[in-house]
Amino acid sequence: MFITFEGPEGSGKSTHSGLLCDFLRRKGFKVLYTREPGGTAVSEKIRGILLDPGNKGMDVACEMLLYMAARAEIVKREILPALKKRKIVVCDRFQDATLAYQGYAGGIDVNVIKKIGKIATLGVSPDITFLLDIDVKKGLRRAGKNRDRIERRPLRYHEAVRKGYLDIARKEPRRVKIMHAVGDLDETQRKIRDVVLKLCHSKI
Ligand code: TMP
Repeated sequence: MFITFEGPEGSGKSTHSGLLCDFLRRKGFKVLYTREPGGTAVSEKIRGILLDPGNKGMDVACEMLLYMAARAEIVKREILPALKKRKIVVCDRFQDATLAYQGYAGGIDVNVIKKIGKIATLGVSPDITFLLDIDVKKGLRRAGKNRDRIERRPLRYHEAVRKGYLDIARKEPRRVKIMHAVGDLDETQRKIRDVVLKLCHSKI
C-alpha cells in the first residue's frame, strides 16, 4: 500500500505522516517512511539544489525535471522494492506536488508533467493521498522565517499551489482525501488512521 501526504507550506503533513508511521509500526506493519524530494543519497543532493535560495532564477522546466530526477531515483531504489516486499510506503509529497507547484502554479502543462512522470514513477501511484489543507498565509507563518527557495515565492504563487491541490482532489475524490490542517491535531490524526485502517482491511 502506498500512502502520500500533500499540502501547501506549513500544513503539518510531516507531523501527520510521522504519527501515522509510528501508529502503523505499533500495529505490527512493516513501513517505509520517506520524503520527496529526497530519500536516497542522490535525491537528497538534488533536494539541496532545489531548495537552495542561492539558486535564484532557476528555470521552471529545469526545476520540474530535477524533481522528476529525484523521483526516478527514489521510486526505483526505495519505493518499488518496499512495495514488492509488501511494506506500507508512506511518502511526504509525491507527483501531485509537481502538478500543483510546477504545473498549476508554475505554468507547465499538467499533461506534460503526467507524461514525464510515467518515466519517473514507473507507473507507481498512491492508493491514498491525504491533502492537508490550510490557508496559505497561516501555513507560511508556521513555516517560519528561515525560508527555502520555494517558500520564498510570493503569496500568489502559494495560493495557486493550494488551488491546484484542491482541483486535483476535486478530480480524484476517491484517492485524495482533504483534511483540515488547522484544528485539533488528534482528531485529524484519528480520521487519517481510520481511512488507512479501512484500506488495509480491504486489501487483506
Ligand atoms: P517539503 O519542504 O515539504 O519537504 O518539500 C520541499 C519543497 O519542494 C516544498 O516547497 C514543495 C516543493 N516541491 C515542488 O515544488 N515540487 C515537487 O514535485 C515536490 C515533491 C516538492
